[in-house]
Amino acid sequence: MRKAIIAGNWKLNKTSREAMTLVEELKREVLDVEGVDIVVCPPFTALGDVSEVVLDTNIALGAQNVYWQDSGAFTGEVSAPMLKDLGVRYVIVGHSERRQYFGETNETVNKRLRAALSHGLTPIVCVGENLAEREANRTFDVIKDHCGGSLANLTTDEMKKIVLAYEPVWAIGTGKTATPEQAQEVHTYIRQLLGKLFDSEVAQSIRIQYGGSVTPENIVALIAKSDIDGALVGGASLKAPSFAAIVKSARKN
Ligand code: PGA
Repeated sequence: MRKAIIAGNWKLNKTSREAMTLVEELKREVLDVEGVDIVVCPPFTALGDVSEVVLDTNIALGAQNVYWQDSGAFTGEVSAPMLKDLGVRYVIVGHSERRQYFGETNETVNKRLRAALSHGLTPIVCVGENLAEREANRTFDVIKDHCGGSLANLTTDEMKKIVLAYEPVWAIGTGKTATPEQAQEVHTYIRQLLGKLFDSEVAQSIRIQYGGSVTPENIVALIAKSDIDGALVGGASLKAPSFAAIVKSARKN
């Protein structure tokens, strides 16, 4: 059985002080939760402070991006060793907002996730189609392209250390969730694809999160689907009660 993993992607929200307040509250709300991996991904500027709050708790720290070089003349970038030093364990790579607004490509996603893996960080790799692609029946083609390109040349051992997130772009921040059936269909497709690109053990062991307008209300039906192993949560992760409610509903039975 794959253990559920719920990650909160705070995006460009929360000062350090606000982030600490949020995570203090969350810490109390999820204190007794077992059987679910809980991750929060604050902005870079809050990682240090949040790291101290979540120390020795059941909440793990994630970052929202990572550069592929360890150090050097790369103004404005943040590297894997810098994140490790702050106690970061996960890093989101290839989020559709990065692909859409910041020129992220499969190739750069691949470089970032390799850097993360080589420093012992767990990459959460995002894939997903936009509305035009879905309407043109190109969803599976896009997934194949994102997975094939982003996960290129990884060994099966490396692949086993990755978490995938299927995030249909049309469902992100729109309040329009994919139906559990739509999500399950793509998750099943991804698992089959991983079986071909790697092997059946990888396909069965890898955790695939769903992302896109996840709420305490819709998580129950989503997580009940056999190939949905958790969620990457944006808006609903910015309030402790709603994120905690999602976490508490996420145990796979
Ligand atoms: P949302 O964002 O939950 O606000 O739709 C999800 C994401 O972008 O990861």
